[in-house]
Amino acid sequence: MRVILPMPGNEAMAEALARSLGAELGVLSWRRFPDSEAYVRIVSDVRDKRIDVVCTLANPDPQVVTLLFAAATARERGADGVHLIAPYLAYMRQDASFAPGEAVSAVHFARLLSQVFDSVISIDPHLHRIGDLEDIFSVPTRVGRAAPLLGDWIAQNLDAPLIIGPDQESEQWVAEVALRAGAPYVVARKQRLSDHQVRIELPDLTRWSGRRPVLVDDIVSSGQTMIETTRHLAACGMAKPYCLAIHAVFAPKVFDNLALLTERVVTTDTIAHPSNAISVLDTLARLIEPSGCGKSTLISLVAGQSSRRFQRERA
Ligand code: R5P
Repeated sequence: MRVILPMPGNEAMAEALARSLGAELGVLSWRRFPDSEAYVRIVSDVRDKRIDVVCTLANPDPQVVTLLFAAATARERGADGVHLIAPYLAYMRQDASFAPGEAVSAVHFARLLSQVFDSVISIDPHLHRIGDLEDIFSVPTRVGRAAPLLGDWIAQNLDAPLIIGPDQESEQWVAEVALRAGAPYVVARKQRLSDHQVRIELPDLTRWSGRRPVLVDDIVSSGQTMIETTRHLAACGMAKPYCLAIHAVFAPKVFDNLALLTERVVTTDTIAHPSNAISVLDTLARLIEPSGCGKSTLISLVAGQSSRRFQRERA
């Protein structure tokens, strides 16, 4: 038996996953005490059941303690494995120490989650200097990729697109999006100067002037990457771009500012947001292994998308 347990705000995705997998939808009751401490109660019976906790981790800090309490309580109540489905996995961008004493948050966050979950599933975690989630998690991880979904959306909705990646590291998946969309692509150069400042250099776009620019990025956070690229495109006389991103992190006011400058902003539903137009539901459902795999026999049953560690039995 499997229970899909939504953390607050994740009910819609959890319900859709439970329906798609034929699993029970769990009930968690949650509130804050007047002093802001969290109260958590798992209402559903979890004994001897596999628990998949659904919690997308945008704005992670107010959620993490509640998430840890829920996972620990499920285990205490006799769950047969407690797993995390985090369509967006936070803290992966701080993946190195750039100044003495700086926390490598990606590593610490992975360690923390590894202590309370038996496995972690996510969609396109930001992996740059860390190549694979298994390098920082000590439990099995499995990653779904949204590039094919973005490519399909472009193919179905846009004529004569030109796909634009914002930085060199985006090339591997921008190339895949472009191939899927049957479109050419170019990649810009980006230098991040501060939290709210980036410098973008576009290649010569003269030969693509009749095409519709489509910016593709994994995350929009401060929005500066997309906004600065859009400004450069305007300066080159290109049409207003479409902006496609996987994770709609959007710091306050960023979405409105970006929407003013662009033709349309489109995101996947890894984080619920009005710009969501591409669903990762089927990708997530395929990543979740069939129930019946207890914590000691966690073996990959889905080919192609698993981290290496998922391919073998856990010790
Ligand atoms: C950076 O390496 C990422 O791929 C994104 O380009 C970045 O996270 C976007 O951030 P922002 O919206 O703050 O420019």
